[in-house]
Amino acid sequence: MQFTVALDGPAAAGKGTIGRAVAKSFGFAHLDTGLLYRAVGVKVMGRARGVIDPVLAAVVAEKLTEKDLDRPDLRTALASRAASRVAAVPEVRAALLDFQRKFARREGGAVLDGRDIGTVICPAADVKLFVTADEATRARRRHVELVKSGADTTLDRVLNDLRTRDARDSVRDTAPMIRAADALLLDTTELSIEAAVAEATALIQKKIEQGRD
Ligand code: C5P
Repeated sequence: MQFTVALDGPAAAGKGTIGRAVAKSFGFAHLDTGLLYRAVGVKVMGRARGVIDPVLAAVVAEKLTEKDLDRPDLRTALASRAASRVAAVPEVRAALLDFQRKFARREGGAVLDGRDIGTVICPAADVKLFVTADEATRARRRHVELVKSGADTTLDRVLNDLRTRDARDSVRDTAPMIRAADALLLDTTELSIEAAVAEATALIQKKIEQGRD
């Protein structure tokens, strides 16, 4: 059976946590598509000494392998910034399209989280959720995560980075981050992880049952 769940929304809204949890409970495969852009970003930064060259970025994206997604440095603030910059290059997005679409169509169901899953990658997804939370909450969550992973940063810096990244992701010409017209809004500001996962789970369950009728 093929069943695609599209989770989009800004950084640190809870997409990844919800994606992993629902994939586990329904036995679906999960793809954090941000990792693709992060992997391209860090590789390009490594080779170009800090300057993003769009031509090089497109070549790197075309040659990306699943092994690149296992790099230990993909969750750093530097990788987030690099990802959002290469993600604005249309040729990079085009190079990563097929892989994501194939993943979405795999047998047994798939959950993809990102920015353009419900709008560009899988416009016909069975379930679409736009996961969001207010800026201060998202910054607090990301700050806790970064500090836990050993990063030396401040809440202010994290908030600034989130703002810059969200703005760049929303205004770019190719596949900007926007809520698909048919995506359900899930605001996690006041929700515990369990409550957010429960809402997403209920929606997916309902869709699966409707498909069986
Ligand atoms: O989701 P995550 O924060 O890991 O994504 C890192 C960056 O990758 C985002 O800021 C965005 O620029 C880019 N991205 C994207 N489209 C996706 C997923 C991520 O443009 N589907």
